[in-house]
This record gives sequence, structure tokens and C-alpha cells, in this order.
Amino acid sequence: METVTTIRAVRERVRAWRTGGQRVVFVPTMGNLHAGHVSLIEAARRHGERFVASIFVNPMQFGPNEDFAHYPRTPREDERMLAAAGCDLMFMPDVAEIYPHGAERATRVEVPGLSRILEGEFRPGHMEGVSTVVAKLFHIVEPDVAVFGEKDFQQLTVIRRMVAELCMRVEIVGAPTLRDTDGLALSSRNQYLTPAERKLAPVIHATLEAAARRLRAGDAQFASIEREGFEKLENAGLRPDYFSVRRSDDLGSPTAETRALVALAAARLGRARLIDNVQVARP
Ligand code: PAF
Repeated sequence: METVTTIRAVRERVRAWRTGGQRVVFVPTMGNLHAGHVSLIEAARRHGERFVASIFVNPMQFGPNEDFAHYPRTPREDERMLAAAGCDLMFMPDVAEIYPHGAERATRVEVPGLSRILEGEFRPGHMEGVSTVVAKLFHIVEPDVAVFGEKDFQQLTVIRRMVAELCMRVEIVGAPTLRDTDGLALSSRNQYLTPAERKLAPVIHATLEAAARRLRAGDAQFASIEREGFEKLENAGLRPDYFSVRRSDDLGSPTAETRALVALAAARLGRARLIDNVQVARP
């Protein structure tokens, strides 16, 4: 695997592969890789012949009081893990390479109706930061396929909509969430948890699964399901931001007739803010 830091170097490598008829699959990340990221590379292998991963902690998607400065950065370990997973190219730009005029002054991509709900309500500007950097990375890498984890379900929905509306030629693939044996979704932010908080954290997935069971049984009392989920998280000692049941295709409000649903939650636990979701297909 080769590591490059400039846009120019990425374009040279990728264009040579594509000229040779090879399909290029891209996995964007913020680094500090864990088994969940490795599973994205494994999913990528089913979609092409050459694999590119980016490691970039994107300042635009962090709010002023969030963990940008302290976000775990482990580039040497990331490089080893990507090489072992069969990645061909690791793109690790610095902030000036991606935002030559500064992240605050950069041109932005917003997806109306999707960027400001759920995560966007509690992390203003976060979703625009994500769609902006992903659009830039797509223009740099020009992949045939890009893989994103379903753990960040709203992010995946925003990116799919952005790609469709901006007529980007990349195919988006969602990969299932990887979980610890107790159900906690793998996330770089899990390492902010103390041992006592770590024991408590699986309650998020357990509560989402309880909501999913009600939904699968045909329950359409969405407000009651949301209230119950929120209260369970609060009673367990977490500080939930939201517990919400939405249509899984566009994150709109469901009706009793909606078949494809997703229950999503975000909650703070100590220094960590954790998100998770469970999808439900009703007959
Ligand atoms: O999911 C992430 O790690 C980030 O939001 C992404 C997609 C790499 C954009 O910075």
C-alpha cells in the first residue's frame, strides 16, 4: 500500500488504474481505525479491483465545543491496518490540502430537509460539514463505488441524496454496523467511556431493539415508542438527545402504512456522545 498526502498524487494513481479498466472503490474515514472500518474495506472488496481509503479528521463537521482537537489520531496504526486489509492507497491530506482558504470560508454542500434534522438539530453544521468533505473527496478520488457504514444512518442518507441530486457518478454502498458481543456499535468514541460507562453503553442498542420489536409486531404508536425509548435511556443514566422512529428511505415521519422504518438514537454518556440505529422491514 502506498500513502499519499496530495490531491495530485491521488489523481495520478487513480486515473492510471481507471485507464487500465480497473474499478476503484473508496472508503472515507477519519482514522483511528477499528474492526468496523476493516469491515468497510472487506465490503469494498466485493465491488472493485482497487481500494482507496482516506484518513482526514474534517474540522468542518465538528462544532466549536466538540472534540476536534482531541479526536484520536493514530496514523501509523491506521496505515498498518489498511495495508493488512488489502487497501492499495491511503490518502492522508492535511487541512490546508482540503481547505486551502480555511474550512470556515469554504464552499459548502447542504442537503435541505435532511441536514438539519436529528444530528443536525443537536450538532448544527455537522451534516453540511460531512456532505461538503465527502463531495470534495469524491471529486478528488473519482471512485466508481464508495462504502459507508450504516451506523451513521443519517450520514448515509444525506450522501445518497447528495449524490443523486448533484448527478455524481459514484455508486454508494451501505455496510452493516459491526457490534461488540454485548451489542454496542463499534465507534472510535467508545474509547472515551470509563469502564463503568462502557458497561452501561449497550443499553442504547438494547433499547433500539425493544423499539424494533414493537415496530415489527405492527405497532404504529410511534410517539409512544419514541417516548419509551427516550425514558429508558434517561432512566439508565444516559442523557439522550433523541430517540426517533423515521421512514428509512428519507428520514421523514412514518405512517401506519410505512413498511421500511428505522429507529435512531443519540445519547451522551460521560465524555462520549454515541449514536446507533436499527432498521425494521415490516411485511
Ligand atoms: O463517518 C466518518 O468517518 C466521517 O463522517 C466521514 C464520512 C469520513 C466524513 O468526514
